[in-house]
Amino acid sequence: MGERRKLVKLLFLSLSLLVAFISIINFYTSTVNVRSFNFSEVKEAFVIKQLKPRFYSLKSSSLIKIDQCQQLTQNKELCNISITVKTTNSNHQKKVIPIIQTWFSQLASQVYFITDREDRTISRLTHNHLIDTKCGSNHYRESLSCKLEEELRHFGRNPSNWYCHFDDDNYLNVNRLFDVLKNYDFRNDWYIGKKSINHKLSAIYKNKVHYFSFATGGAGFCLSKSLFNKISTYIEDFVNISNSIGLPDDCSLGFIIESLIGVNLTEIHDFHSHLEYLGSFNSNNLKNQVSLSYKFETNNFVNISAFKNSDEDPTKFKAIHCNLYSKQSICLN
Ligand SMILES: *[C@@H]1O[C@H](CO)[C@@H](O)[C@H](O)[C@H]1NC(C)=O
Ligand SMILES: *[C@@H]1O[C@H](CO)[C@@H](O)[C@H](O)[C@H]1NC(C)=O
Ligand SMILES: *[C@@H]1O[C@H](CO)[C@@H](O)[C@H](O)[C@H]1NC(C)=O
Ligand SMILES: *[C@@H]1O[C@H](CO)[C@@H](O)[C@H](O)[C@H]1NC(C)=O
Ligand SMILES: *[C@@H]1O[C@H](CO)[C@@H](O)[C@H](O)[C@H]1NC(C)=O
Repeated sequence: MGERRKLVKLLFLSLSLLVAFISIINFYTSTVNVRSFNFSEVKEAFVIKQLKPRFYSLKSSSLIKIDQCQQLTQNKELCNISITVKTTNSNHQKKVIPIIQTWFSQLASQVYFITDREDRTISRLTHNHLIDTKCGSNHYRESLSCKLEEELRHFGRNPSNWYCHFDDDNYLNVNRLFDVLKNYDFRNDWYIGKKSINHKLSAIYKNKVHYFSFATGGAGFCLSKSLFNKISTYIEDFVNISNSIGLPDDCSLGFIIESLIGVNLTEIHDFHSHLEYLGSFNSNNLKNQVSLSYKFETNNFVNISAFKNSDEDPTKFKAIHCNLYSKQSICLN
C-alpha cells in the first residue's frame, strides 16, 4: 500500500515539474516576444486590431482570405483579374497599409504588391502577397521599368481575363472598375487607362520614328487577356526596350502596345493620378471614379473629411472607402 502511495506521489511530482517546466518555457518565449517588440510591430498590432473581425485569426496568426469579389459583381468573369500595385520599401507603412486596410480586402486573393525589399509585416498582413523584386528603390528609369517588367512577369504566371496595374497612392474603387471593364470583351485587345499628356510621344526605335500615347501609371491601367498575350513576347526585353527608347516604364509599355503591337489606348477619364487636381472629388461623385490618389507634398486630396481624425487617415482612403462601402467592418466601429 505504502509503495503504491509513494509511486502516485512521485508521478504527481514529475507531472508538476513538467507543467512548471512548460510554463517557464512559455514565459521565456513570451518575454522574448515582448522584448523584441519594436515600433513597426506595434503598428502591425494596430492594423491587426483594425482588421481582426474580418480578416484575421490571431490564433493561427495567419490571414484568412475573405474573397468579396463575388459579392461585388454577378459577372464571375470579372473576378478573374490580376492586380499589381507598384511600391517601394519606404512607402510600406505610409502608403501600403492604407491600401491593405481598405480596397485590398475586397480582392485580397488577386492583388499583389511589387516592391524592392522584403517586409515580414506586410507579407503577413497580405498573406504573402508582397513580391520583392530586387529592382532598385530609386526613381530612375531603369528601376521603374524593372518593376513594371516584374509586374508583367507576375501577370504571366497568373493567367487572368484582365490585368491591371496601380500605384501605391491609388485608391481603387473596385465596383467602378468592374462597371468599366464589363463594357469590353477580354477576348479582344484592350489597353484601358488615362493619358497624362495630350500630345503623342515620339521614340526612335530600330532607326524608325514612332508616335504613340500611353496610359499614365500613376492613375492605373488595365490590359485584356488577348492584348497581354501579345505583350508576352516583349516582357523579357522590357527593360532593354525602355533603355533603348530612353523612356520610363508606363511610356515604354505604351510604346510596345501602340507602336509595336498596333493597339490604341482606350481612354477612360475616371482613372485619376496625383498629377490631377483631386479637390473636385467629393461624396457626390466618388462612386463614378475608378481610381483616386493623393499627394502630401502639394496638399492634393479628395475633398472629403478624414475618417475619425486625420492622424488615423492621412491619405483619406478610409474616408473614401467608408463613403463608398459603409458596411465594411472598418467603417462600423
Ligand atoms: C522591427 O520589426 C520589423 C518587422 O518585424 C523588422 O523588420 C525590423 O528589423 C525590426 N527592427 C528592429 C530595430 O528590431
Ligand atoms: C482565371 O482563369 C484561368 C483560366 O481559366 C484560371 O487558370 C485561373 O485560376 C483563374 N484565376 C482566378 C483568380 O480565378
Ligand atoms: C539587353 O541589352 C544588353 C546590352 O545592351 C544585352 O547584353 C542583353 O542581351 C539584352 N537583353 C535582352 C533580353 O535582349
Ligand atoms: C490608332 O490611332 C491612330 C490615330 O492616332 C489611327 O490612325 C489608327 O488607325 C488607330 N489604330 C487602330 C488599330 O485603331
Ligand atoms: C470641399 O467641399 C466643401 C463642402 O463639402 C466646400 O465648401 C469646399 O469649397 C470644397 N473645397 C474645395 C477645395 O473644392
